[in-house]
Amino acid sequence: MNNTWQAFFGLGKEPFGADIRTIDILKTPELTDVQNRFDYVVRLGAVGLVTGEVGSGKSTALRYAMEKLHVAEYRPLYITASSGSIMEFYRQFVDVLDIHLSSNSKAIMVRRIKNEVMNLVREKRLKIVLIVDEASLMRLEVFAELHTICQFDKDSKPWLPMILSGQSTLIDKLTYRSSQPLASRVVAKSHLEGVDLAGMEAYLKHHLAICGMDRMLFDPTAITAIHQGSGGLFRKANHLARGSLIAAAQDQSAIVNAEHVRIASTEIF
Ligand SMILES: Nc1ncnc2c1ncn2[C@@H]1O[C@H](COP(=O)(O)OP(=O)(O)OP(=O)(O)O)[C@@H](O)[C@H]1O
Ligand SMILES: [Mg+2]
Repeated sequence: MNNTWQAFFGLGKEPFGADIRTIDILKTPELTDVQNRFDYVVRLGAVGLVTGEVGSGKSTALRYAMEKLHVAEYRPLYITASSGSIMEFYRQFVDVLDIHLSSNSKAIMVRRIKNEVMNLVREKRLKIVLIVDEASLMRLEVFAELHTICQFDKDSKPWLPMILSGQSTLIDKLTYRSSQPLASRVVAKSHLEGVDLAGMEAYLKHHLAICGMDRMLFDPTAITAIHQGSGGLFRKANHLARGSLIAAAQDQSAIVNAEHVRIASTEIF
């Protein structure tokens, strides 16, 4: 699909994209809630959870909370989890700490990770926070062992706070008996849901404004259709909003209506 629709609406760039800049993130009450809990967990050196539906804005909220940390004081370490083994997790941790290791021994990896965390905390005077996105994908064996990486000086030093984010199955995995040592360290939970109709209108306006458009291009029927079709979830709303703008441009209509949203909805899941 070419970009004539952008020109038709006079949009400076393609709206509703995935690559939103941090300064362009819409400060919703839910985002502030995630940030407050994130800060609380980091202060305590504990574990926090961010759960929510697919495309509800979890990764964006994490990015926002991370960027709010003062660079001179904090070192956030961001990992996108996989369904791999605990060794896979440690390898990712080693990478994000920029450690060069030739050994594949678990014991050596864990020792190096802990030494590096201690070094950053004690020598460099940095506060560390480990953010594990897509944590709901992790195997139960990873949940069973993850708390050991946070234990320093006989578990007396809370040097490695951890934020786990993922779909609601993350909670299910934490209720297993084998996950209890990790679950017992959780001190805060945020859950992101779809926004309400007013929240969706604000979201659509915001994304248009990012592209230099101060006119509301969606009529009330379109806003309702996008809200219903997306369940208030942002990624799906992005697809419906972009698709309906394209449909409206093809229709030579300066305003998007519910019919344009319906056409867009036939293209997505
Ligand atoms: N606060 C926000 N302000 C502006 N845009 C947002 C905001 N939150 C989310 N978005 C938009 O919604 C899209 C989906 O958000 P995000 O990727 O954070 O969801 P997610 O919950 O992490 O999804 P997944 O479950 O697939 O990991 C983003 O690409 C971004 O464009
Ligand atoms: Mg995500």
